Amino acid sequence: MFLELDGHGPHYAQLARALRSAVLDGRLGTGTRLPPTRELARELELSRTTVLSAYEQLRAEGFIEGHTGSGSYVASLQTHPPLLPATPSIESPSRYAQRARTVRTPGIATKHRGLRYELQYGHSQINPALNGIWGRELARAAIYTPPQITHVQGLPALRKQICDYLARRRGVRISPEQVMVVAGTQQAVTIAARVLLDEGDAVVLEEPHYFSMHQALIAHGARICPVRTDDEGLVCNELPQISPSLVCVTPSHQFPTGAVLSLPRRLELLRYAEKHQCWILEDDYDGEFRYTAHPLAALRSLDKGDRVIYVGTFSKVLFGTLRMAYMVLPAALVDDFVNAKYLSDVASPGIEQAALAHFMEDGGFERHLRLARKELQARRDALIEGLHRYAGDRVEIGGSPAGMHVVAWLRGYDHARAEALIELAQGRGLGLYSMTPHYLDPPARPGLLLGYCGLSVTTLREAMQLFGQCLDDMDARQV
Ligand SMILES: Cc1ncc(COP(=O)(O)O)c(C=O)c1O
Repeated sequence: MFLELDGHGPHYAQLARALRSAVLDGRLGTGTRLPPTRELARELELSRTTVLSAYEQLRAEGFIEGHTGSGSYVASLQTHPPLLPATPSIESPSRYAQRARTVRTPGIATKHRGLRYELQYGHSQINPALNGIWGRELARAAIYTPPQITHVQGLPALRKQICDYLARRRGVRISPEQVMVVAGTQQAVTIAARVLLDEGDAVVLEEPHYFSMHQALIAHGARICPVRTDDEGLVCNELPQISPSLVCVTPSHQFPTGAVLSLPRRLELLRYAEKHQCWILEDDYDGEFRYTAHPLAALRSLDKGDRVIYVGTFSKVLFGTLRMAYMVLPAALVDDFVNAKYLSDVASPGIEQAALAHFMEDGGFERHLRLARKELQARRDALIEGLHRYAGDRVEIGGSPAGMHVVAWLRGYDHARAEALIELAQGRGLGLYSMTPHYLDPPARPGLLLGYCGLSVTTLREAMQLFGQCLDDMDARQV
């Protein structure tokens, strides 16, 4: 098979890119069987793990179907959102478009459908009561919101509520002038990239990291400097000596490992930003869901040098489709960020902002959070209890008690065996997802990212029982 690797980044990403292009430009048509991983590894003089990881990445993106062992096939792309125009490829209109082509995907793991137990990360909690309340808030706001756009930065009433909320819950004391409402974390990242980065500028990204953030930065033309994370989060003494323009972190709940950035490292990171005169983007994506008595305050609350751009989102706590998030901006950046927001989409939708401001002012938002936190904690407990009971010491549970997912590292598994486990589970109606697509280079040991948001306590217990049976069957295959 003719595949040209472009020499940029890790081998598995190069291979995934080459295969993706072959699918998109029709060289590998729907249903084509990809070469067995061993064979391709031999042909390209790569390790088998590299080939496995590339296949896994493409499977997560929906380009291929099937599994190691039973064969991997090019998926029918008609069933997915259009990835590229159907016309034969024109030369890409710009460098941005060229880079975006290499990363544009429907997102992590949208493949498994109709499974009895779906542990995909990113599903929102289904909450009919919240839908009802939200509908009433929207109807009310539609009547009272003036039709003209006056606030690029966000409605003052909402920005005030966000300030009060951050002071109460995240230890961040700021004024509404520093807050900007944006269309999700994704827009926060793209605006930050536009304002702060020229093509080729260095950006530190945690390894592993949030897939969509990486994609946005690559498409913008950033040069990614991955920095390892461990049980205390970002390993700050491995930050690059050259000065990056931006450091992107998830300090409160590292995504996806779940580690909490320790206090000494938080201080070290802030000193680093001062010394190198770079900005820090703090993605506090699930800051609302901490199940310990004393969660650490946000990194931004320690930031005396005004170098931290804090991003919080309503995607996780309300609805993913709301597309609403907020940034807390260093004073020196406010005007440039507001300009970029204006140029991007003028302003976020006024009625939704007004509805949210009222929901927060009224106390409904915090009431909802209290209930959601309680329910999610019960789900998390059920999942962990089930893991202990049915998986025992065959998995190691990673991360801190927070958020909407748990990491289960598989003991005694290599990547190929982990793939086989995922396939076996899928065949029995259990959707499991690998940690590997969240890494630039495959991790030393395979792990699973288990999202527990979409299942009830009862179904999570059943799911874990089934997981235990799948592990038993995998053990039986060994003997
Ligand atoms: C690490 C991380 N950051 C941010 C987000 C939220 O992104 P958005 O606000 O664009 O929905 C997510 C959602 O899955 C996430 O996992």
